[in-house]
Amino acid sequence: MIYPTELSIELTNICNLKCVLCDNPNIPRPKGFMDFEKFKKLIDETDRHVKRVNFGVTAEPLLHPQVDQFIAYAKSKGKYTILTSNATRMVDFTTKLINAGLDAVVLSLDGMTRETYEKYRKGAVVGINNFDAAKTGIEILCQKKESLNKKNPHVIVSFLVNRYNEHEIDTAKEWSKKMKVDTLLLKAMHFAWAGGKEEDAMREWAPKNKEFIRQYDYTKLGICAWTNNSTVVYWDGELASCCFDLIGRTTFGNAFTEGFVKIWESEDHKSKQVEMAKRTLAQCVGCSSGVKLGTYVNNKSFLSRITQKIGGE
Ligand SMILES: C[S@@+](CC[C@H](N)C(=O)[O-])C[C@H]1O[C@@H](n2cnc3c(N)ncnc32)[C@H](O)[C@@H]1O
Ligand code: SF4
Ligand code: SF4
Repeated sequence: MIYPTELSIELTNICNLKCVLCDNPNIPRPKGFMDFEKFKKLIDETDRHVKRVNFGVTAEPLLHPQVDQFIAYAKSKGKYTILTSNATRMVDFTTKLINAGLDAVVLSLDGMTRETYEKYRKGAVVGINNFDAAKTGIEILCQKKESLNKKNPHVIVSFLVNRYNEHEIDTAKEWSKKMKVDTLLLKAMHFAWAGGKEEDAMREWAPKNKEFIRQYDYTKLGICAWTNNSTVVYWDGELASCCFDLIGRTTFGNAFTEGFVKIWESEDHKSKQVEMAKRTLAQCVGCSSGVKLGTYVNNKSFLSRITQKIGGE
């Protein structure tokens, strides 16, 4: 039996943004925040095989008030920790994340002006300047790292390239160099969360530059890496298939109430693993897990190790 080396932890399924093509606003599950004591038990139970803990799967992890405690606990157990965030709350967390020992952080900034950013990143509350908050938050994190002479977290800025912001790529490169962002990921979008309107979404959002369009033969992608290596844990302990499935189409059972090993070894999970491997679950249609996510500026070797692994999205 193969056990996963990575856990993707949903600290909360609540988000403060409603990005145009993200499935988060469609999550039908009850809203909530992960309990710290239950997380600690899970980390202890999976300690033997889990090497990496990835925070931030389906929503905004910096909305969890104890986020730094979760990271610090995973670090105390020797895990590699990574967090993916929209950065709009980063200003309040820079010192906490550095002190918690976070290894890497993926921060979304899909535009270099408020106008282009807000095309995709719509605020859940109208009128708030999320662009300034995210950009300033990233800048302060980079400055603080430098002033404290810290290498970590490795800062990756993820810029989803689309029709409205592709003319800003050079500005993004200049800014990230000036700010000493470790890596800029010019990420190709997928359109699989468009709720049956993938073609329309692609027509509207796909950039003109083909370099930033995902091109792959879905039938030749091979076994899905999420089958054995990684799994998602929703905030309430429910185990789920992968980070592509934000809304919870494929779940296996509750690790907090039933225990991780029992679910992982169950017949139900094993049969779903077969479908995941073959990519035959309904959610797999249009998933590009395993393809190159985009174009990396700086630290290619680091990214091939880390960011490709973030996978699914
Ligand atoms: C679902 S979000 C959760 C983390 C956080 N809320 C954020 O936005 O960074 C995880 C990743 O999905 C990315 N994402 C959102 N919409 C996407 C799309 N249509 N294609 C590819 N990636 C997308 C985000 O930029 C982010 O890096
Ligand atoms: S992409 Fe991230 S910030 Fe945007 S709605 Fe989805 S989870 Fe929220
Ligand atoms: S949706 Fe994608 S990542 Fe998830 S199981 Fe299917 S192929 Fe794998």
